[in-house]
Amino acid sequence: MSKTILVTGGAGFIGSHLVRLLVNKYIDYKIINLDKLTYAGNLANLKDIENKPNYEFVKGDIVDATFINELFTKYKFDSVIHLAAESHVDKSISNPLEFVMTNVIGTVNLLNAAKVSWVKPTTKNEQLTTNRFYHVSTDEVYGSLGETGLFTESTSYDPHSPYSASKASSDHFVRAYHDTYGLDIVISNCSNNYGSCHFPEKLIPLSIYNIKNNKAIPIYGKGENIRDWLFVEDHARAIDVIFHNAKSGSTYNIGGHNEWTNIDLIRLLCNIMDKKLNRVEGTSAQLITYVKDRAGHDLRYAIDSSKLQNDLAWKPSLQFEEGLEKTVDWYLSNEEWLNNVTSGDYQKYYQEQYVKRF
Ligand code: NAD
Ligand code: TYD
Repeated sequence: MSKTILVTGGAGFIGSHLVRLLVNKYIDYKIINLDKLTYAGNLANLKDIENKPNYEFVKGDIVDATFINELFTKYKFDSVIHLAAESHVDKSISNPLEFVMTNVIGTVNLLNAAKVSWVKPTTKNEQLTTNRFYHVSTDEVYGSLGETGLFTESTSYDPHSPYSASKASSDHFVRAYHDTYGLDIVISNCSNNYGSCHFPEKLIPLSIYNIKNNKAIPIYGKGENIRDWLFVEDHARAIDVIFHNAKSGSTYNIGGHNEWTNIDLIRLLCNIMDKKLNRVEGTSAQLITYVKDRAGHDLRYAIDSSKLQNDLAWKPSLQFEEGLEKTVDWYLSNEEWLNNVTSGDYQKYYQEQYVKRF
């Protein structure tokens, strides 16, 4: 194996797409997927690759520093791609401390272990060339835009939710380990993702589930908030390109140039669902229900990804309508996944099968 790479949070939504890409594309890399298997982690997302020789799953918590240090000693990772996080804004509003623990303390535990493993006295303040710490972050650290403008890599951080505040904090720690200890780091800040294996607490999968089951689609406030949506496999491709090519210490914004108000997005989704479920046009839209707005709800996110497009020749591969239809098709033909996730059964089965702590 030419490299041993630790991917954290690989059983989650984006992590599972990234792990699949890396395992299939780089057969000479060993990919170690470390995940606590919280409610958001589901090993069913990786069933197709779980027996590949260059893949291994380890169950564990990034908040447990002793465990993380032992893991680094055992596997001698060459690099880390860090995605493990608490990721849902609404949950962060009701339980901010959990977000501090995983997103901030967990990240610092990984940084410490990487520093101890990779930064020797002789390499202090120099760039390491073979060991990279890649932090996968969010555009939400930049705060909220008005009606115009885009987030660039030099936009000041201005997080508003406990989730975005915890991600901003972890980004700052990652940069501090570069500036202070010379750790080779890269950060990417991506817009909202959509696609298969997305936990149905987030807008798109929740709405697909509710439409399918004739339940109300909750729209916060007036539905006028804007998000910039990117197909999850395009995000995984961007991480691959950035991980392998970015300069140490650099930051890349990743986005789809694809802004939608929540209500327009849900209307489009309702039309697609009506067609797929052979319902009369307009049936699903009757489920739209305006509910109390989220506290501190950011109005608009929109990413300028021209640095990534120009430097590293990445671009989104799908038009939104095409990607959304593909996503709907996946959810409708993976009923078992959706039922297991909504009933909680996935955790019983997979956690028992894979509990592994060396
Ligand atoms: P997710 O919630 O689907 O998955 C998170 C994964 O992390 C889960 O598998 C979970 O079990 C694991 N995890 C949580 N706490 C852990 C802990 N203490 N130790 C080990 N593992 C733990 O999240 P996602 O949507 O796939 O997001 C992945 C990363 O990408 C996050 O860092 C998130 O901030 C970032 N991000 C997400 C989006 C998006 O639209 N979803 C956009 C930009 C950036
Ligand atoms: P979400 O998928 O939670 O992602 P984020 O908050 O990280 O952008 O929400 C996307 C948008 O949809 C956001 O403006 C909040 C809104 N929303 C609803 O209107 N109803 C819902 O039930 C959810 C989960 C989100």
